[in-house]
Amino acid sequence: MRRAVCPGSFDPVTNGHIDIVSRASTLFDEVTVAVGVNKSKNRLFTVEERIDMLAEACRDYGNVKIDTFQGLLVDFCKDRGIHAIVKGLRAVSDFDYELQMAQMNSSLVDVETVFIPTTPEYSFLASSLVKEVARFGGDVSSLVPAHVLARLTARLAERRDAEM
Ligand code: PNS
Repeated sequence: MRRAVCPGSFDPVTNGHIDIVSRASTLFDEVTVAVGVNKSKNRLFTVEERIDMLAEACRDYGNVKIDTFQGLLVDFCKDRGIHAIVKGLRAVSDFDYELQMAQMNSSLVDVETVFIPTTPEYSFLASSLVKEVARFGGDVSSLVPAHVLARLTARLAERRDAEM
C-alpha cells in the first residue's frame, strides 16, 4: 500500500490545506493528515479542535485519516510504514526551507518528500494570515470551510471578551 502523510499545524485548516490533501488522496492509497503537537507554540485551537475541524473538512475523502504526532516527523513515518511526505508549495519562497527539510528527513529515514504546487487561487494562503485578517474583522469566508469560519469567529470573540 502506498501511504503518505500531510503534516502541519492546521491552526486552523484552510482551503489551501484541503486542496493539497484532496490531491494527495488521488495519488496515494492512504493519506494521513498529521497534526504536529508542539507544546512550546501558542495556538488558537487545541489539538482536539484542530483534529475535529480536519475530520469534518476531509470527511468526503475515503482514504484520508487524521492523526497527531509529537517529535520528529520521520519517527511518525517509520512507526506507520509511511514512505512519502506531501507538502504544498505556494511560491518559490517556500522552496528553500522545504527542500532543506526534505533532504534532512530523507537522510534520517527512507522517506521521499513529494511537493504539490498549490492551486494559484490559494498561493497567498496561510493559517497565520487567516487568523490575523479575521482578528481585525476582515472577510475570510472564501479561505476556510464554513464550519472553520464559525469556530474561528467564536474563538476570536471569546478572546476579545477575555481581554476586555
Ligand atoms: O503547518 P506548519 O507549522 O508549517 O507545519 C510544520 C511541520 C509540523 C510540518 C514541521 O515543523 C515538522 O515537520 N515538525 C516536526 C519536527 C521535525 O520533524 N523536525 C525536523 C524537520 S527536518
